Amino acid sequence: ARICVIDTDPGTDDAIALWLALASPELDVRLVTVAGGNAGLERTLPNARAIVGLGGRAVPVVAGADRPLLGVFTSEPRVHGADGIGGVALPDGPPATRGIAADAIRALLRTEPRVTLIGIGPATNLALALATEPALAARVEEIVLMTGAMAEGNITPSAEFNAWSDPESLAVLLACGRPVTLATLDLTGQALVTPARLAALEAAGSGACLAAALAILRSVPASRRFGLRGFPLHDPCAVAWLLAPHIFTTRRVHAAVETQGMGRGRTAIDRWERNRQPANALLLEALDADAFFSLLGDRLVELP
Ligand code: BDR
Ligand code: CA
Repeated sequence: ARICVIDTDPGTDDAIALWLALASPELDVRLVTVAGGNAGLERTLPNARAIVGLGGRAVPVVAGADRPLLGVFTSEPRVHGADGIGGVALPDGPPATRGIAADAIRALLRTEPRVTLIGIGPATNLALALATEPALAARVEEIVLMTGAMAEGNITPSAEFNAWSDPESLAVLLACGRPVTLATLDLTGQALVTPARLAALEAAGSGACLAAALAILRSVPASRRFGLRGFPLHDPCAVAWLLAPHIFTTRRVHAAVETQGMGRGRTAIDRWERNRQPANALLLEALDADAFFSLLGDRLVELP
């Protein structure tokens, strides 16, 4: 199994992504690090503890950044509710492990020669870990990020929420020289939660995690304000790439992120070598959404 860290800001879709990872034998989740994002860190940390606890796996959960490197922290209560988790009450999880996210990530990299970093929130914790000890990047096998957008953004017209939340940190990851895989909004918009897919998940089993996942998925608005017919299940797409790469199509690209002005957080993804820069990322372009949702159901029923 791949040894991995999940850096997260739960977050409705983060919860589903964490459960998908914890349920999957392909992944050995050694550490969950938490940032403020969908809600403030004072909410995302207990949410992460509760999600990991309900998942029944003893994975350390460590608090990290409550704000970006630069700029002002802003959450997104319109999508995830004021508590970040759609108002769904989860039983309290085990206490957080002492320490700071970036230190915990570096400690794991020192002991393990190949670690996959899965980033499904603002990139601050991952960037701090690599920027404070760049030699450790050699131990990173792959960085899989839910971030960015080629077409419209979701937090500003030009930017996706995670990229916009801390573009300087995203720039650090894109420049670190290790393989970066990107699940952008253009991809996650293909993984829409629809009534039929919810019904299929409901029919899959009856465990506590699956019930909580369904309650969370029912709490999120359908993104009709973005012209979509369902909620895009963003973060689980990044995890699914590591479980079932055959359900994706991909392309090598050069990716960069804008940090200034109205375009702050906009990702410039060059699919056609227009800017003659060497590729620095693997773009997940398309996924088989039905296969993705059936994988999700198959895995979630394995949890308590
Ligand atoms: C991303 O931002 C958050 O709202 C979601 O959890 C996801 O990580 C989508 O733009
Ligand atoms: Ca997230």
